[in-house]
Amino acid sequence: MQKERRVSPQTKKEDEVLDLALRPQSFSQYIGQEKIKKNISIIIEAAKKRKEACIEHILFYGGSGLGKTTLSYIVAKEMGSGIRVIAGPSIKKAGDLAAILTNLREGDVLFIDEIHRMNRVCEEMIYPAMEEFKLNLIIGNGPMARTMELKVPRFTLIGATTRLAFLSSPLRSRFGGTFRVENYKKNEIEEIIKRSSSLLDIKIKNDAVKLIASCSRFNPRVANRLLKRVRDFSEVEGNKTVSRKDAQEALSFLDIDEMGLESGDRKILQTLEEKFSGGPAGLHSLSIASSEEKETIIDIYEPYLVQIGFIKRTPRGRVITEKAKKHLKTIK
Ligand code: ADE
Repeated sequence: MQKERRVSPQTKKEDEVLDLALRPQSFSQYIGQEKIKKNISIIIEAAKKRKEACIEHILFYGGSGLGKTTLSYIVAKEMGSGIRVIAGPSIKKAGDLAAILTNLREGDVLFIDEIHRMNRVCEEMIYPAMEEFKLNLIIGNGPMARTMELKVPRFTLIGATTRLAFLSSPLRSRFGGTFRVENYKKNEIEEIIKRSSSLLDIKIKNDAVKLIASCSRFNPRVANRLLKRVRDFSEVEGNKTVSRKDAQEALSFLDIDEMGLESGDRKILQTLEEKFSGGPAGLHSLSIASSEEKETIIDIYEPYLVQIGFIKRTPRGRVITEKAKKHLKTIK
């Protein structure tokens, strides 16, 4: 069974409630992603000036927890439109997609998360809907089959994906704007933690904010989750204000080190160092030796370990860096 991870950027049930309470409602409340905010604000303003019901279709790509969903809610709000949110894998049949599209209202945003996991048949059906706001449905089968054209309301599709390369090029080319959500800077994460603390009525010292930020993998979802855990810890200790010591103790209790690594991350590094003499090791071998699934290594562990320069990906496999070896020594 998978051990629960505090620093995984993927959504957990508890995050859904937390995300909702903390989600910024406008671009002015949203911290970070400056380029995206600026670009999209211009797109929205121009569409409003032209009195158009919707804007061009938009694609967001980048890691989990970096704000793709939040940005989409804000786009809908700033346009004064409704939003329908669905997960790509839940669109399994042509009928599913037809029902979703025909139930939209004029000008609505349709947000499809994990759009790369949408069924291929549905993906092809969505092209004419994106371009001409119509659907071609095939009724019946065999020689009696016929197509029926169905009009759908004008809408804006916002697609989100963590895997841009998995998106077919015909789909990709139908988006008017493609934006990469970037990792946040440390000062932005600190700002987010301060904003969240104020919304959750948490009194917190500046040095505690800094410590949580440095363990948050530059990811707002992880930062907010850690903030909540640290707050719980501080409350149990009977403290009214979260101090750096509270944060330190809580993070150490959660087994999160000062680089934001958990035991799972360290296991990958230790496996590389001890079982492969530092590497290179292929994904398959690393997966077997560390007892972690390949997808988990690729989606969860590796992006951050590569980002902080702890693992290098070479044509012959993964290699541990000197920086990572030093880090491992400090925590042994
Ligand atoms: N909460 C989560 N992400 C945020 C962001 N980018 N700005 C403000 N608050 C947030």
